[in-house]
Amino acid sequence: MAEANSGQDLAKTMKALVLKTTSEPPTIQTVETPQPTLGSAVVRVLQIKVISYTREVMNGKRNYQFPMPLIPGFSAIGRVAAVGADATMVKPGDLVYVDCTTRSRDNPSDVFLAGVADGYTAGSKRLMKDVWRNWTYAEYCRAPLENLAVLDERRLLGRPGEGGLGYSIDDLSFISTLLVPYGGLRDIELQAGQTIIVAPATGPFGGAAVLVALAMGARVIAMGRNASSLAKLKATVPTPGLVETVQITGDIKAETEALAKFGQADSFFDIGPPEAYQSSHLKSAILSLRHGARISLMGGYREDVAIPHVVIMHKNMQLRGKWMYERSDIADLIKLVEHGILKVGEAAGSHTYGHFSLEQYKEAWDLAAEHTGLGDQILVQP
Ligand SMILES: NC(=O)c1ccc[n+]([C@@H]2O[C@H](COP(=O)([O-])OP(=O)(O)OC[C@H]3O[C@@H](n4cnc5c(N)ncnc54)[C@H](OP(=O)(O)O)[C@@H]3O)[C@@H](O)[C@H]2O)c1
Repeated sequence: MAEANSGQDLAKTMKALVLKTTSEPPTIQTVETPQPTLGSAVVRVLQIKVISYTREVMNGKRNYQFPMPLIPGFSAIGRVAAVGADATMVKPGDLVYVDCTTRSRDNPSDVFLAGVADGYTAGSKRLMKDVWRNWTYAEYCRAPLENLAVLDERRLLGRPGEGGLGYSIDDLSFISTLLVPYGGLRDIELQAGQTIIVAPATGPFGGAAVLVALAMGARVIAMGRNASSLAKLKATVPTPGLVETVQITGDIKAETEALAKFGQADSFFDIGPPEAYQSSHLKSAILSLRHGARISLMGGYREDVAIPHVVIMHKNMQLRGKWMYERSDIADLIKLVEHGILKVGEAAGSHTYGHFSLEQYKEAWDLAAEHTGLGDQILVQP
């Protein structure tokens, strides 16, 4: 049986960032270029949007678990270089979004984030260690076919006036950030016309949640500790009239009173970082919801979180956790972008602070930790 349908001859070796241990910095190495196999494609990685806490993941501070040596990575934009013989849609030359959320084919609950985290089951850990260990901080990446979403290049990159949206590849890198909150918002079935509390809304994924909720037709109450970041967020979003802000002060009574001014919300989307596990917003937001409200918990807390159980029980609320998103969410979000409903790039308040080579990974990771506002982008181009 044919194993591969190479679109071009891949060089035998390539450049990659390799992490051997979290106690030492990664190094640039020359490694074998991955070749396509059945069920996979090899993608020339064009750029990776750096997550604000990449440095803390790679130096072990965030305690993410992954096998080493590892070519790390996250989701990326790339161009298909070669495909396995069973690919029926993806072909060499296609511009693709490469997603890091990887699932076992015979047991989709074995899920892990390629290049970042090996998941929570024996199956997910084995699959990352033995099969999909290396990811996008390299010139080429071999990815499962189902992790690739072909982008309509003519529509997205084409000129306005000629049927295009006039985006650049930089703009498209924002898709990886928008997808995370989309997963949670789809999961709680956010409806057009509803009001949702997003907290904290001033970080990269929190700000993206505001944009996505607006594109889904909702009104947003954005919570955050920093009043000027909230004001900046409101000034940046495309429909500021649909965004209200409430400051997280630590005073639950004051926060619930401030939230009550906007009526009872239909849902609450939480996306706090690990250090916010005791933040007052978790209670004040839940106390401000209507009967039958839905709550999406996407925050990265490592500690247990206290919740107002009696209110959740008496008000028939639904509490749902969500790690990333479903595969179908990727195609659906890309449609929102291709149809111009969900903006990326400058129209979404996005700004790219720098492009970095693989060798400059440290500068990129340091800068990403500094620029954590809505739409802030630092891009690595291997
Ligand atoms: N479930 C998933 O699939 C998924 C996926 C991706 C990320 N995550 C989690 O989402 C978290 C948030 O991501 P992010 O990129 O938006 O932000 P981030 O860079 O991790 O954190 C910054 C945000 O958290 C706020 N914050 C920091 N410390 C806080 C505290 N003690 N109390 C209240 N708010 C606090 C910041 O507000 P200020 O402006 O006030 O500092 C800012 O809004 C990540 O840390 C990760 O753990 C989950």
